[in-house]
Amino acid sequence: MIPLARPSLGAREEQLVVETLRSGRLALGPRLGEFESAFASRLSTDHVSAVSSGTAGLHLAIRAAGVEAGDDVVTTPFSFVASANCLLYEGARPVFCDIDPRTLNISAEAAAAAVTDRTTGLLPVHIFGYPADMPGFEGLAADRALWLVEDACEALGATHADGSTVGARGNLSVFGFYPNKQLTTGEGGAVVSPSAQAKERIDSERNQGRAPDMGWLDHDRLGFNYRLDDLSCALGLAQLERLDEMLAGRARVAGLYGEALADVEGLGLPCPDDGGDRRGWFVYVVQLPPGVDRDEAVLAMRERGVDTKPYLPAIHLLSFYRERFGHREGEFPVCEDVAARSLALPFFPELTNAQVEQVVEALRAVIEPAA
Ligand SMILES: Cc1ncc(COP(=O)(O)O)c(C=O)c1O
Repeated sequence: MIPLARPSLGAREEQLVVETLRSGRLALGPRLGEFESAFASRLSTDHVSAVSSGTAGLHLAIRAAGVEAGDDVVTTPFSFVASANCLLYEGARPVFCDIDPRTLNISAEAAAAAVTDRTTGLLPVHIFGYPADMPGFEGLAADRALWLVEDACEALGATHADGSTVGARGNLSVFGFYPNKQLTTGEGGAVVSPSAQAKERIDSERNQGRAPDMGWLDHDRLGFNYRLDDLSCALGLAQLERLDEMLAGRARVAGLYGEALADVEGLGLPCPDDGGDRRGWFVYVVQLPPGVDRDEAVLAMRERGVDTKPYLPAIHLLSFYRERFGHREGEFPVCEDVAARSLALPFFPELTNAQVEQVVEALRAVIEPAA
């Protein structure tokens, strides 16, 4: 079976993880700072906090941004559920707006139309690694005095048209390092802060609310255990050394899929880079032609040795969100249509040309049965 995702791991990962294991410093050791510095320098930014997951990073980032219970925050319904859930942790309410059918991100214009007097913040997501319009969101945030947090969990390696790196424009931004991501630490994530003070707060809150210079016995604020352990940081350090190679591998596979699937009638492909924005390839998600039964397609692909997955469901239609907020079908038609037809194909740097051919043949057989 060709799997949907597989982390790219080499000898260097093994070496650094084993060295760290043998050092006996498994948490709050030297690897943490080393990984944070290396990640910061990769992004050409200054203030990075490594955390235990992307979700933990989002939670700490919105707290640092100033979210409060009862706030409305404008975000996208087409994302992994964590980008909306983190708002609920703080008693805020996610207010969704519909997505752009090309980029699958929310636009600054759509977000502006959803802003009301109750809105305090914006939480755009760079979905599937395609850059959201940050200049637009930064303008909206400034005009309406809103805070801004970027969910860049899927977007390592992406760049904006103005040359800036996604997640490194001076906003609070969050990356995720789950094993399907461009870079993995097992579980893990990172928050990029705009200032030393913001990083200090995040570093403290990830470590049970203890200030850096505090003794073991004191805590001066509410905190969490959102620390990233040293074995994970060692893995991340080795992955960073190979990041360009891994990103190039993903771009190669995306290029192969794009060429091989371009002529399939009715099939939607990930949008090409436009206007200087550059995607950091994370997943390869196609939109099945209208009328193709997706559940049957998943089963038929599996019979042909190919793992695929519907990706992603619309957040507002998840049962928990329906029950809690009364959401119904028809509220965000573009998102709902995309969510109903989207299918993630196997995608990782080491996917071979022959495997890509096998996936493409299986997909064609499923959606062009008469051919
Ligand atoms: C857009 C988005 N936001 C948040 C997350 C949460 O990251 P994690 O799974 O590391 O908690 C993910 C990752 O799966 C994601 O894709």
